[in-house]
Amino acid sequence: MHDKKWIIIGLSVFLAFFTFPFWYNMGKASPAPEPELTGKSAGAKACVEPKAYMKTRHMQLLNQWRASVVREEKKIYVSSTGKTFKMSLTQTCLDCHTEKSRFCDQCHTYVSVRPDCWDCHIDPKEISR
Ligand code: HEC
Ligand code: HEC
Ligand code: HEC
Repeated sequence: MHDKKWIIIGLSVFLAFFTFPFWYNMGKASPAPEPELTGKSAGAKACVEPKAYMKTRHMQLLNQWRASVVREEKKIYVSSTGKTFKMSLTQTCLDCHTEKSRFCDQCHTYVSVRPDCWDCHIDPKEISR
């Protein structure tokens, strides 16, 4: 009988600790990320594609750009509104979004994604620093 009591106490303590993050955060959502428009992106009227598309599909767009440049040697992108852009992660995206840490990383840290792009591609900011 004694054993049973201790098991129940042990279980309760375990459950209390284990679920702590859940009930501790009840009612307060962690603040949503606020990607900042800095540099040229602050002055630009629009992104490469409409904002809603960029928000959800920029990864696919970047993959498409990479494939196009590396495999087909096609380097110019024509957007849905007929504007042309050089297909480049650092020379285009980061030319407008000059502060990777205050833009890209804001969201990525929030959702815990760590794109490996920066193992090879260099944030122009890092060179000038
Ligand atoms: C001509 C400058 C310019 C270029 C080049 C550019 N952006 Fe943007 N980007 C903007 C602007 C301005 C906005 C805000 C658009 C709006 O509010 O309608 C934006 C918005 C975004 C958003 C949505 C942000 C949010 O708050 O939801 C993402 C994601 C994004 N850009 C990623 C990229 C990526 C990836 C590239 C390269 C493929 C890129 N941008 C190239 C200017 C640019
Ligand atoms: C509005 C928020 C937001 C902004 C701003 C943003 N991203 Fe993202 N990004 C995301 C989310 C969310 C994912 C994960 C999507 C998924 O897993 O389906 C992601 C995923 C990615 C991926 C794919 C990563 C992987 O491992 O699959 C790449 C590449 C990427 N982002 C590049 C960029 C670049 C470059 C910028 C800045 C120019 C940027 N993103 C700005 C929200 C954002
Ligand atoms: C293992 C190293 C490596 C990694 C990791 C890597 N790339 Fe690249 N990427 C390259 C090389 C090399 C090129 C070819 C450079 C050229 O032709 O100018 C390239 C070209 C590109 C291009 C077209 C040229 C340009 O200037 O941007 C895009 C877009 C691109 N990569 C996007 C990405 C994205 C997005 C990620 C992360 C999801 C990524 N790459 C991860 C090595 C890498």
